[in-house]
Amino acid sequence: MKIIRVKDYEELSKHAANYIIEKVRKKPNMVLGLATGGTSEGTYQNMINDYKENHTSYKEITTFNLDEYIGLDGINKNSYRFFMDTHLFNHLDIDQTKTFVPRGNAKDPMAECNTYELLIKEHGGIELQLLGIGGNGHIGFNEPGSSFQSRTHLVELTDSTRRANARFFEKLEDVPTLAITMGIATIMESKEILLLASGEAKREAIKRLLEGKVSEDFPASILNKHSNVTIIADEAALSGLS
Ligand code: PGA
Repeated sequence: MKIIRVKDYEELSKHAANYIIEKVRKKPNMVLGLATGGTSEGTYQNMINDYKENHTSYKEITTFNLDEYIGLDGINKNSYRFFMDTHLFNHLDIDQTKTFVPRGNAKDPMAECNTYELLIKEHGGIELQLLGIGGNGHIGFNEPGSSFQSRTHLVELTDSTRRANARFFEKLEDVPTLAITMGIATIMESKEILLLASGEAKREAIKRLLEGKVSEDFPASILNKHSNVTIIADEAALSGLS
């Protein structure tokens, strides 16, 4: 794994955006895997700034997001579809019909998982997948104990994930208990992975990712088996390394 060390969140956001923008310029019809969460917000803002200043085009780009809460539709402000629309898609020239987020309000969520897998295949697979990391090592919503063989599936969120995400909701009880997520095997099939980590809250997770053993108890550890992973992390997130 290649590690790019940056000073802080601001630098991380600029660096990650430039990394993605460069790929998009080289291949304007690429398939991008995207992530939601506080970490990616700054990256998306920098991509929007670049779009305004330099007119990098996303017209031909296809995107697949990692996950979505079950029970929330795309206009619910806590849904990941809403997050993506408001933090990125609405501000670019991207074709909204080529932006895929699992549908949290699908009538048959299991069928939605299979459809999502098929869609990814039909588009030739993900070329660059952006990832955050949970304090418990989750990637997407693949919580500790998730099978490394998993494909897009339904998951029950752990208490720690629901508490970490409660900051976006009015109260903890409003955080859904179920989600749909790309599986670990799905994520591992992406040709390239870019993982972002910022702040002290991610220190232990980054230490375990880089120094711990590969185990389903710590889902992100599987990334050690991927041949093309870049981590952009700030000083605080890297401060636990021995
Ligand atoms: P965060 O979430 O960016 O909000 O910290 C990352 C994750 O849980 O994958």
